[in-house]
Amino acid sequence: MTPLPIARQRALGAHRERYGCVKRFAAAAPGRVNLLGEHTDYNGGDVLPIAINLECCAVISHHDAGTRAEVHVVDLCDTAVFKADDLDVYRADQRTHAAPGESWRAYVAGVLALMEWRGPGLHITIAGDVPRGSGLSSSAAFEVALATALGQALGQPSDPIVRARLCQRVEHEFAGVPCGLMDQAVSCVAIPGHALHLRCREPVSFRHVPLPPAAEVLVVDTLVPRTLASTAYAARVAGCRAAAGLLGVRHLADASPIPFGESLIDRAHVSGEDLAPLVRHVTTEQARVNAAAAAMEAGDVARLGALLNESHASLRDEYRVSCRELDCVVDTSVRSGLAWGAKMTGAGFGGCAVVLAHAGAAHRLAEHITSSFQRRFGRSCSPLAVQAGGGAACFDVD
Ligand code: GLA
Repeated sequence: MTPLPIARQRALGAHRERYGCVKRFAAAAPGRVNLLGEHTDYNGGDVLPIAINLECCAVISHHDAGTRAEVHVVDLCDTAVFKADDLDVYRADQRTHAAPGESWRAYVAGVLALMEWRGPGLHITIAGDVPRGSGLSSSAAFEVALATALGQALGQPSDPIVRARLCQRVEHEFAGVPCGLMDQAVSCVAIPGHALHLRCREPVSFRHVPLPPAAEVLVVDTLVPRTLASTAYAARVAGCRAAAGLLGVRHLADASPIPFGESLIDRAHVSGEDLAPLVRHVTTEQARVNAAAAAMEAGDVARLGALLNESHASLRDEYRVSCRELDCVVDTSVRSGLAWGAKMTGAGFGGCAVVLAHAGAAHRLAEHITSSFQRRFGRSCSPLAVQAGGGAACFDVD
């Protein structure tokens, strides 16, 4: 029998230790890395992420000691109790502050509130191995694992895209992050060995595209803290909305890559943010996602790699969400002759790069990137070869 993945073992072990051998409901949900389509999801565009083989696991049992949910997060050694009537105090617009490391409380309260939990009493244990704050969507994995396990514990099955949308609302309404649907959707519906080509507008639709066998996916964490991420992310979202308004389109991804020079947008700013480069990135990135999905289907991995490189240049120069550490990982990978292409992944401002390594070369490439990074910055980065895994699922607990 294959052993349970480590996050599941840790969550189940901790739950048993705290609450004994009771009937349990359990679910796990993965983090993600995005191959292409960065900052397109909240612009009604397409994205092409994969779910990775790192996950978050939630284990739930019922208790009859009152309508409260006691939640223990193993990785943070932290526990909190939630009451159905008090969940609104965790809403982003009602919170006065959240101490660092306590944002998980908003995710839990959001899932409990939006799933309309009014009882029974719950014991919940959560553990995961998606690195936090690295841009691999540990928060989406957390929300989706909890929502999936809770759906089972409360007898509320739901369509995976409906669940993804609920978790996206948790980000908007409780965490205060105006994110798109990508992270929650891929965590809900991915299948192993495939990227998800997701269309992020109503009606949301998706298809699974096979990863080319000639490539291995390497994730390189620059370990640069993403401290500016939430404010800078919200500023980009606001800039894109303003640009769409000026161009008269509902979704910025629909704008044509306009010739610049005379247009209104060329002189437009929002809170000091030039709008024209945002439009250039979003419109060209939207075209790149479709080209990348086609390249994957045709098994043209060289073209796919070239599109990753172009995406990185656009994120660096137009959208301005990269940093020198991410640029170094991407440049080193591209110059090594061991990669098809590379780019930063996720919101940016630090965090991880995704490298499409030649099959069989990921290990050598990881060593090469680590030593170049060390020479340049005097410290290490953290490379990790990942597999494209499946989306959230409940699993049997004996
Ligand atoms: C974050 C958000 C996503 C997406 C990416 C950038 O991961 O949660 O919705 O916007 O940034 O592509």
